[in-house]
Amino acid sequence: MAVNIAIIGLGRWGPNHVRNFSALRGCRVAAAADPSEAARARLAESYPAVRLVADYREIISSPEIDAVVVATPTSTHFQIVSAAIAAGKHVLCEKPVTDRSEDAWKLAEAAEVRGVHLMVGHVFLFNPGVEFLAKALAAGEAGRPYYVNSIRTNLGPFRSDVNAAWDLASHDIYIFSHLLRTRPTQVSAVGAGFLRPSVEDIVFVTLRYDNGVIGHIHVSWLDPKKVRQITIVGEKKMITWDEFGQPGPVCIFDRCVAREPVYETFGEFQLLTREGDAVMPRIPPQEPLARQAREFIGLVTGQISRAERGSAREAAEVVDVLEAVSRSLAKGGAPEDVIYGG
Ligand SMILES: NC(=O)c1ccc[n+]([C@@H]2O[C@H](COP(=O)([O-])OP(=O)(O)OC[C@H]3O[C@@H](n4cnc5c(N)ncnc54)[C@H](O)[C@@H]3O)[C@@H](O)[C@H]2O)c1
Repeated sequence: MAVNIAIIGLGRWGPNHVRNFSALRGCRVAAAADPSEAARARLAESYPAVRLVADYREIISSPEIDAVVVATPTSTHFQIVSAAIAAGKHVLCEKPVTDRSEDAWKLAEAAEVRGVHLMVGHVFLFNPGVEFLAKALAAGEAGRPYYVNSIRTNLGPFRSDVNAAWDLASHDIYIFSHLLRTRPTQVSAVGAGFLRPSVEDIVFVTLRYDNGVIGHIHVSWLDPKKVRQITIVGEKKMITWDEFGQPGPVCIFDRCVAREPVYETFGEFQLLTREGDAVMPRIPPQEPLARQAREFIGLVTGQISRAERGSAREAAEVVDVLEAVSRSLAKGGAPEDVIYGG
């Protein structure tokens, strides 16, 4: 029997979930909710069979709905996801899962107690290029990583409930933990709200990891260019990912710096650069949101036992890191330890 899905929130992002779940075999988008009449009317034009309501509570109290997707502003996630879990619905919630770590951990626990799946839409984990990076690092292709740098900029969209770090760096924090297979212990962040003083439009975050790796993230919704890039510098190779790169997103540079002994002076080394080939592997494009949707349906139908990417606990850890980012921002960039566990 098909899984009946409902989408809550039909703004910029929610309709992408409607499109992907509608195209997926084994599920049906049965309903959608948004208090905005205009948003409901836009959806009705393309999806006349979807039942549209203003109040999400009508959806979560409906016995025919098996699972919900929450694509509303972050500040509303806790209330909506709590209610959905309490009603026994499986939930795919957009990132960041909440705007407070305490709430993120409460949701993770509530889902476990209620026996429903709570997956969080950290969709870049389903991006084939990012997947390639993770496999390459795990295989030791780059050697020991020294640092990772990410740039995620655009002009808009602007949010008022969360700043650019919560909105955008939430992606990179999770991607870095996935790539490095460890989580940051300390962060420092500087940023500024040029458009509205209380909401930072640009944030520069530095992350420190126990293995000595440094991570850096530049996020901005006040930038002339839409950029989605990651650079990994390792002791053996350097790898870049550019979402819009041509002819493909990933480039592996056989470049590194070797230490050669200087024989005249015992114990001294000189640093020599190695300039090898740059290779762009073929990575067939696949829509990450469609792959994420398929994984969620796999969870709901029991074909997959637990979320490998976007588990509620890993998503809560991202919120723990974001809270440390906020504390550091408030202190003008002072280093802050990440406190895990809400
Ligand atoms: N994974 C990604 O790459 C990605 C991309 C964009 C947005 N997002 C996330 O998706 C969420 C929504 O972002 P957006 O850009 O669509 O925001 P948006 O502001 O464009 O749309 C939010 C919609 O939610 C509706 N809404 C508000 N309260 C509601 C409620 N109680 N019940 C039902 N609907 C309600 C609003 O009317 C609006 O239509 C955010 O959490 C954002 O971080 C994720």
